[in-house]
Amino acid sequence: MRQIEQGDELRAQILSWRNAGERIAFVPTMGNLHAGHYALIALARQQADRVVASVFVNPTQFGPNEDLDRYPRTPESDAQGLRAAGCDLLFLPDVATLYPFGPANCVKVQVPGLTAELDGAARPGHFDGVATVVLRLFNMVQPDLAVFGRKDYQQWRVIDYLVRELALPIQIVPAAIERDADGLALSSRNQYLSAQERAVAPEIHRSLLALQQGWAQGRDLATLEAEAFGRLQALGFVPDYVQIRRGVDLQKPQAGEREGLVALIAARLGRTRLIDNLELVS
Ligand code: PAJ
Repeated sequence: MRQIEQGDELRAQILSWRNAGERIAFVPTMGNLHAGHYALIALARQQADRVVASVFVNPTQFGPNEDLDRYPRTPESDAQGLRAAGCDLLFLPDVATLYPFGPANCVKVQVPGLTAELDGAARPGHFDGVATVVLRLFNMVQPDLAVFGRKDYQQWRVIDYLVRELALPIQIVPAAIERDADGLALSSRNQYLSAQERAVAPEIHRSLLALQQGWAQGRDLATLEAEAFGRLQALGFVPDYVQIRRGVDLQKPQAGEREGLVALIAARLGRTRLIDNLELVS
């Protein structure tokens, strides 16, 4: 696996693959990689001749009171795991490579509508930062396809919108959520949980399963949401939202709308904010 920090070196490698007629897949990450990320690499591997991953902790998607400074950085184990998962090239840009005029002076991309909902409301500016960095990374890597986890459901939908809106010739491939055996969705943030918090954390997934069950029984959505919200509160969570939404635009479904819905939860447990979701299928 090659490791490249400079944009021009990256471009040269990509060009030589492209000239050889190879199909290139891209998996952007912020590092501190776990089995959820490696599953994305494996999916990319199946769909392309070359797999490029990036590790970049993007300052523009963190709010002033968020965990940018304490975001875990584990470059050696990331490189080792990526190599084992079948990655061909690890792109490790620095801030000046992605933001030549500095993050404060950068050209921002703003996806309307979708980004005002849910995590966009809870984390103002977050998805602008994500769209901004992903567009830059796409321009540098110029992949044929890019893989995003459904774990960050809203992020996947924002990127899909961005690609369609700007007519980027990149196929966006969503990957299933990887979970621990007890149902907790894998996340870099899980390591912040105390043993006691870790024991209660799978209740988020259980709440999603309860929402799915209630929905399949045709129960009222607002009642289901309120029940799950209250249950999580009683267990010690501070929920941001418990919502059943239309997957494609994350708006509230019309009365009687049944297809393409997703249940989404964000909740704080101690100092850690956890998110998870489940697509509703009968
Ligand atoms: P990061 O949080 O490192 O996640 C990188 C990718 O891994 C995302 O597409 C995310 O959805 C996926 N992922 C994380 N945990 C997963 C799990 N348990 N199952 C399946 N996929 C999972 O998301 C970001 O980085 C950044 O916002 C980024 C897109 C790189 C832009 O900075």
